[in-house]
Amino acid sequence: MRAVRYHEHGGPDVLQVDEVDQPDSAADEVLIEVRAASVNAVDARFRAGSYGSVSLPAIPGGDAAGVVAEVGEDVEGFAEGDRVFAGGMGHGEGGTFAEYASIPKMKVAHLPENISFEVGGAIPNVGVTAWMAFVENAGLRPTEYCLVHGGNGGVGHTAVQLGNAMGADVLATAGSAEARERVRDLGAVVAFDYDSETLA
Ligand SMILES: NC(=O)c1ccc[n+]([C@@H]2O[C@H](COP(=O)([O-])OP(=O)(O)OC[C@H]3O[C@@H](n4cnc5c(N)ncnc54)[C@H](OP(=O)(O)O)[C@@H]3O)[C@@H](O)[C@H]2O)c1
Repeated sequence: MRAVRYHEHGGPDVLQVDEVDQPDSAADEVLIEVRAASVNAVDARFRAGSYGSVSLPAIPGGDAAGVVAEVGEDVEGFAEGDRVFAGGMGHGEGGTFAEYASIPKMKVAHLPENISFEVGGAIPNVGVTAWMAFVENAGLRPTEYCLVHGGNGGVGHTAVQLGNAMGADVLATAGSAEARERVRDLGAVVAFDYDSETLA
């Protein structure tokens, strides 16, 4: 199969397309034929070598959406051909910038029919992070205020939309007028300049 890999740390120019063996699935894994995978800020940091150690050559990519190609013998609830999405890959485990990725079943979920592969492949890491913050940790309730610092970022723009969907009044910060307009379009009731000396 084809996979994007880097053999040394560096800028985007270290990425190349290689022909590699298709990954074998362990008993608790699902082999996904990848249809879409997102680029997360952390992918660039791992590639640059500034975030944590990865064994080289590495296939980057933490999120994917696609179709189940094979299920491990201990996997229940998934069948060949199912539309799925998954997150939390890469960085020591096989990444998703490849035609196939073998992913532990606990990281895989069914992708609803009305969600495209492109959207499904963009949601997992940033979506789970925003969900853990608002749902599991903060217990955010309708009509409460929440503040999303960096509302224009990968996690931030997802958090703005999630907070809004949960019925909260979302206050956000962003660094430029254009970014503040974008986060208001995504549902923030107000967007502040994070560089303002009067922010607090
Ligand atoms: N991405 C993930 O899946 C993930 C998962 C878990 C944890 N995290 C953590 O979540 C944080 C954000 O990650 P990300 O991937 O969303 O990064 P990102 O896409 O690079 O976004 C970072 C955001 O930070 C904003 N920012 C920069 N300087 C700021 C300041 N002084 N005050 C307030 N905001 C500022 C930027 O705003 P402007 O664009 O407006 O300049 C940018 O939108 C990081 O700490 C990361 O480690 C990320």
